[in-house]
Amino acid sequence: MSEENLRPEWATKIGFILAAVGSAVGLGNIWRFPYIMGKYGGSAFLLVYLFIIFFICSLPLICELSFGKRTKKENVGAYATINKKLKIFGWLNIITAVLISSYYFVIDGWIAKYIYINVVNASVSDYGTYFANFVASPVVPCVLAIIFLAVVIFFIYRGVNKGIEFINKVMMPLFLAVIIILCAFSVTLPNASDGLKFMFMPDFNKINGEMLLAALGQALFTLSIGMGIILVYGSYMKKNESTVKSAYTIIILDTVFALLAGIVIFPIVFSVGLDVDSGAGLAFITLPNIFTHIPFGNILGVLFFTLLFFAAFTSSISIVEVPTSALIENFNLSRKTASVIVFIVISALAVPVSLSMGVLGNFKIFGKNLFDLFDYLTSNILLPFNTIVLCILMGWFVKLRNLRIFHNKAVYAMFNFLLKFVTPAALVILLLSGTMFK
Ligand code: PHE
Repeated sequence: MSEENLRPEWATKIGFILAAVGSAVGLGNIWRFPYIMGKYGGSAFLLVYLFIIFFICSLPLICELSFGKRTKKENVGAYATINKKLKIFGWLNIITAVLISSYYFVIDGWIAKYIYINVVNASVSDYGTYFANFVASPVVPCVLAIIFLAVVIFFIYRGVNKGIEFINKVMMPLFLAVIIILCAFSVTLPNASDGLKFMFMPDFNKINGEMLLAALGQALFTLSIGMGIILVYGSYMKKNESTVKSAYTIIILDTVFALLAGIVIFPIVFSVGLDVDSGAGLAFITLPNIFTHIPFGNILGVLFFTLLFFAAFTSSISIVEVPTSALIENFNLSRKTASVIVFIVISALAVPVSLSMGVLGNFKIFGKNLFDLFDYLTSNILLPFNTIVLCILMGWFVKLRNLRIFHNKAVYAMFNFLLKFVTPAALVILLLSGTMFK
């Protein structure tokens, strides 16, 4: 059989781990985690977060990996092995991945633009106005999103080994190098300790229900669970690799990178006495404004946006593999045709999403423009929902026992209990709070 007809497999274990960590470490780690940690009690939050990610979110991570690994199928095929009627849940994962892609690539495009303006050292006096005008402009952000997508699609087209595995093996070490350089710079800034205090200062009084939900939501998003990615990456695993060990390696590295991102960002913000923010405002307004005022700021800017670029690229490639693998395996398409179709579909969605920040801003559904709507729909509804379905199917129908991943009886009993009761209950609360109270 030619290689084309064989189902792909990761060539090396490290290739798989790098790809999975590359998917996990994304914008969520850099612009969201450090801020949430600072806001909700510093190292007190970290303890709670570690508990949640180790004992609650590790379960769906392990199950998604094992589900893929055992069935050796992409999302739709994997769910169909339980029951044909359950295919719909596979499709739901794919829809989630496509919706997330449609706004993630728009942000990817912004990152590309910011690398460029830092490289040419453009003189921008106020990034608040600059950013607002840029994202609202009709042409450049759309074009950049499509170019970014085209580059990602090129690697998807090259396949699991020559594309996904290759690019992660190149980019993840570079990501590590850049983040270490930036950390070294940050901790030597004046008032660096204020920034680190904001992030690490333990404040147990801030532990409350809202904070627990924030930690849970963050853990789900950052581990790329509920988007079908982990299942597909798991389906390319070799038989003899442990999904449990892999899951915990991913969790630990993901958390380390999120902490390093905070060590980069907060000293910079506190060194000039500004308030911290999260999300696009932090990355595209606050930090660039600071870079224009400090020595070697544009070099820092280039490094920082290169860091964001690596983080975003390796996550973007993972999410695009979800619909691509689905087309290949369900419709018998070649990887080439599947990648072209995915390129067209995501572009067709990304363009209106980008325009919703400007000319299409008045087109609102449930009071939200398309960008906010897709973000809300995926983060608050689809991710927890898909993950609840997975936990229930794995815990109650397929049964953890049959996955044969825990060999110690006590450990198995604990994880079985967590998977059947604790994780789904926590996720149902997250889903309800995200849909009813926001
Ligand atoms: N883990 C990713 C992040 O933190 C989530 C994600 C993966 C988003 C893939 C988009 C694409 O950003």
